[in-house]
Amino acid sequence: VLPPLPELDRLAPVPLAQQIAGFYADAIATGRVPPGERLPTIRAVADGCAVTRSTVQDAYRRLADRGLVESTVGRGTVVLATGAAEGAPSGALSGAPSPRGALSRYAEAAMRRTQEVVAAPPLPPGTALVANFAELMPDDAAFPVDDWRLAMDAVLRTGGGELLGYGHAANGLPSLRALLAERSREFDPGVTADDVLVTAGAQQALDLVLRTFCSPGDTVLVSVPSYHQMHGLLRAHGLSVVQVPFGEAGLDLDRLARALERPVRLAYLMPTFHNPTGRTLTLAQRQALVDVVSRTDVLVVEDEYQTSLRCRGEALPTLRSLDPRNRTLTVSTVSKELFPALRIGWVVGGQELLRPMAVVKRFMDLESSPLLQAALVEFVRRGSFDRHLDALRAELRLRLDALRSAAAEHLPPGCTISDPDGGFVAWLELPQPGHGDRLAQQALLRGVRVVPGRMFDLHQSPSRGVRLSLTRATVEHIHAGLAVLGDCARQIVDAPVAAQPFL
Ligand SMILES: Cc1ncc(COP(=O)(O)O)c(C=O)c1O
Repeated sequence: VLPPLPELDRLAPVPLAQQIAGFYADAIATGRVPPGERLPTIRAVADGCAVTRSTVQDAYRRLADRGLVESTVGRGTVVLATGAAEGAPSGALSGAPSPRGALSRYAEAAMRRTQEVVAAPPLPPGTALVANFAELMPDDAAFPVDDWRLAMDAVLRTGGGELLGYGHAANGLPSLRALLAERSREFDPGVTADDVLVTAGAQQALDLVLRTFCSPGDTVLVSVPSYHQMHGLLRAHGLSVVQVPFGEAGLDLDRLARALERPVRLAYLMPTFHNPTGRTLTLAQRQALVDVVSRTDVLVVEDEYQTSLRCRGEALPTLRSLDPRNRTLTVSTVSKELFPALRIGWVVGGQELLRPMAVVKRFMDLESSPLLQAALVEFVRRGSFDRHLDALRAELRLRLDALRSAAAEHLPPGCTISDPDGGFVAWLELPQPGHGDRLAQQALLRGVRVVPGRMFDLHQSPSRGVRLSLTRATVEHIHAGLAVLGDCARQIVDAPVAAQPFL
């Protein structure tokens, strides 16, 4: 019996390749296509489902990424024995030895992703740097090193050896949790120390959320574009991903509602200074979004990685504070507003969500460093944190103003740039898909580094945009860099269509 062909829903917001991959992943998980069996040829699926061969290739590549199949010349696409266990009910295949490589599937996916994805290449040798808009890393020249040293010294003098032992505080030092709760109340009035779990940066928090609430084969919804390091995590956890467009008017709520008609386990969103666009959802957009998700039981994870870096307008409530179901988690970090080296982030959530996360986190690292947490409390207590934040925001305001005026001066018609109210990222968009990727290539040759927009799409589809990070770009760099970007953009936009390769 030949393996079945999928039935595709062309009105669904889910890409056809994803539907095909999802269909065969289910068929493998339920044993309808057993290990060793071949999937239909790419041509058979393309003809049978009236899609292009590259769509089927994309679908099969996704299955291979999840370790479910292997494609070899001559043998076609064969279901792997390890793959059958992935979505099977627990215990269904227990005890069955499975042939496997040296690495776990998680590690395989992490290795593959790390090899595949180079967000922004370095300048070609001999090219002088005009502006670096690539990495979203705080500028180490601006770190208040002396103030931090004083805080470390003070806590070591008072806390001594105790701070160098285990802190016996799996959810985080109580003093830090109280402080983070107090600071979070600006955006989420009811937060108490009990609602806070300290993590090793936001990145660990995101991994922890997936470990705690998702199983391989579950579907997770993300915006497109979206934070690219999350894409790697989603792949490593063997999750299916639905992308919902995030544009000038915020998240596309019609597409969101349609995507949520199918089972979706979790939605990952960035309502404030979204990475990579820098856009922020208004209060009305937040409420409308919460209205849509709260008709379902989808778990929402909002990544508030730069919330305190607001330069303009009022602080806005978190999605969590608007969610009547108590099914939203807020992830935050000190990496962008202080130093990434602390590896301190935190999650705010109700007990039902936080308790299992804390247990899983103990499995991963026992606890976060008591010494660094205590020093952070001291750093805040001395006023050093707020002084640093004020200085950072003042500089950021100058840079965002410079970006606005340089964009108005240099960008040709048809190009747009986002106008962030804070945070270090902005999004420059050209008229056609693929233009952003060409802009990144051409600007690099002229000394300007940006991240091409396709990096923020799970499938790396051609993008109109590029991300500009302002952490390493001074006001002077911004003016010089935008002059180059404007010039390259003009050449790309004016080029005859035939001269525009589809990247
Ligand atoms: C949107 C977003 N979330 C999370 C992180 C990870 O931050 P952390 O250094 O706290 O792990 C980053 C880092 O750039 C980010 O941009």
